[in-house]
Amino acid sequence: MAVQSVDVFSPVSSGHPLDPLSPEEMRRTAEILRTDRSLGSQVRFVSVTLREPTKQEVRQHGDTGAACERAASVVLYDRGAQQTIETVVSLTEGAVTAWRVVDGVQPGVMLEEFFSTEEITRADPRWQEAMRRRGITDFSLAMIDPWAAGYDIEDPLGRRLIRPLTFVRSGPDDNGYARPVEGLVVLVDLDLMQVVDVRDHGVVPLPEKAGNYMPELMFDGDNRPAHTAVRSDLRPIDITQPEGPSFTVDGYAVSWQKWRLRVGYTPREGLVLHQIGYEDRGRVRPVVYRASLSEMYIPYADPAPTHRIKNVFDEGEYGIGLLLNPLQLGCDCLGEIHYFDAVANDQDGQPLTIPNAICMHEEDYGVGWKHTDFRTEKMEVRRSRRLVISCFATVGNYEYGFFWYLYTDGTIQFEVKLTGVISTGAIPVGEQPRFGTLVAPGLYGPHHQHFFNVRLDMQVDGDGNSVYEVDAAALPPGPDNPYGNAWIAQRKQLTRESEAQRLFDPFVARTWHIANPSSVNELGQPATYKLMPGDNVLPLQQEGSQAWTRAQFAYKHLWVTAYDPAEMFAAGDYPNQSQNAGGLPEFVKADRSLDDQDIVVWYSFGAHHVVRPEDWPVMPVSYAGFHLKPVGFFDGNPALDMPRSTPACHAGGAPVDGSAAGPVAE
Ligand code: CO
Repeated sequence: MAVQSVDVFSPVSSGHPLDPLSPEEMRRTAEILRTDRSLGSQVRFVSVTLREPTKQEVRQHGDTGAACERAASVVLYDRGAQQTIETVVSLTEGAVTAWRVVDGVQPGVMLEEFFSTEEITRADPRWQEAMRRRGITDFSLAMIDPWAAGYDIEDPLGRRLIRPLTFVRSGPDDNGYARPVEGLVVLVDLDLMQVVDVRDHGVVPLPEKAGNYMPELMFDGDNRPAHTAVRSDLRPIDITQPEGPSFTVDGYAVSWQKWRLRVGYTPREGLVLHQIGYEDRGRVRPVVYRASLSEMYIPYADPAPTHRIKNVFDEGEYGIGLLLNPLQLGCDCLGEIHYFDAVANDQDGQPLTIPNAICMHEEDYGVGWKHTDFRTEKMEVRRSRRLVISCFATVGNYEYGFFWYLYTDGTIQFEVKLTGVISTGAIPVGEQPRFGTLVAPGLYGPHHQHFFNVRLDMQVDGDGNSVYEVDAAALPPGPDNPYGNAWIAQRKQLTRESEAQRLFDPFVARTWHIANPSSVNELGQPATYKLMPGDNVLPLQQEGSQAWTRAQFAYKHLWVTAYDPAEMFAAGDYPNQSQNAGGLPEFVKADRSLDDQDIVVWYSFGAHHVVRPEDWPVMPVSYAGFHLKPVGFFDGNPALDMPRSTPACHAGGAPVDGSAAGPVAE
């Protein structure tokens, strides 16, 4: 068995102010709202989320144990009045404490709308006629994916819209993305629950070849000839932790090695980490107050009618937390696993629990550090280990894994794992797509990009932090560089929000340092964490495109803002059907000071996806992300005190197998 034990955690508030809402609290929130405001059935619950107390209140709770008010932030949508309402419910007081109608916005697509769209479309005679034109008469095999509408100049104004696309299965478990209904675009009014427009841009034959990935369906002769059987030569790898994991969990508080943090969750952001700190000589030193995915944006590069509409903000338009998978023991994570359930809301405001939504486990991460003294042949090696806190969201055809890693050397990493099924298009057999890659006869994957923005409410050794851009800079030849070899690490402080909108630059190894000028190490250097970009890219969409007007956050890799708890989302609170760039471009307008302030770092990164034939029929995981690494936060290697793993590795002389440690002169 790869998994020795499971510890399933049921969310019951342990009394910490940052604990997500419990199912009971969510029920109570809906009850208070219904009683206090006599809500009719037309009023739907879009999102119900913990209203996080202020940092001051959380600090007081930590110092004195003083209880904080428990409150929920609720977004309601009144379908009858076509109104969005932001409200706050105090669970402590049992009362609605804020109520505000927000004009001119569309909240994210609700799950009930998501599922109704399929039924409404399937019943529409215009859609049915378009399907018959393609020779499809069994409508039960159609998959109707509700793509967020974005905007189009021909759209009826002020209506709540969604723009589904159609795919066709050949049987109940068949991968329907193998047969996209090219050229058919439907527009649905979600208030009226009516199809308002069906555009058929012309018939392209359905691709004939199946694209199945379930072993039961892969070898029916209709699939890829490269695979004839499931491999039989893979022997087990067991991850065993006979003494149990090295972490301890108390409610949502996690302690692992020297790391301390709290796990959190919201229906919109999914996994959230709070109060990440590192215990150093008996003191927990804060690093990040709150870390979360703040938005995603996926623009497609194909101008064809079925593909140009694909401009999705998966977080703000759907809610990543709502789409989390219940994780399978021994499948998604190996080892000694601790699961956290997630509590989202349904449209009646009732709790919707996703069991095992968040997985936590430890991983061996290979060699952490090593040196062999070749003269004495004495060798020291330590293994690296990481704590993995992760979740997986299914957004229609795609899967996104969101992985936070904490390492024994003080490093923090965030990694997105992109997998699932590509969004496909059909093309006449024999033709080559100009804006995509052929993956099967008559089937292609359009070029696209996936942008992510992570909001890092930094707290390096305290609230007062400053940010520096650090570039490698070669010195010009001359008295300062007489041999031509000299380069320096050039630091430039980003002192205001107008200066802190930056691009990554791999040619100068650009990093961004978040430093606490009031906290210095033994060498007098300010305690610092640096943000190290991974692979990155910019959107290629031009001015006037939806990307340009709606997803400005993705056009800069680094943004830094002064802390404001109301500023949570890189593309604004309501990106659904938005026609302008909210979020970061708005936040920085005040051009606030970033010098020794409570600051928030926002990092945008993109996964550039020119589809490969190998991405079909299901995509091998590709990765995107970044690291946060300590720089002068410690006085030396923080993993120096890691124990030797086994005595045999440290014979204190020749390695145990008798071989020399390196070239030895005879
Ligand atoms: Co992709």
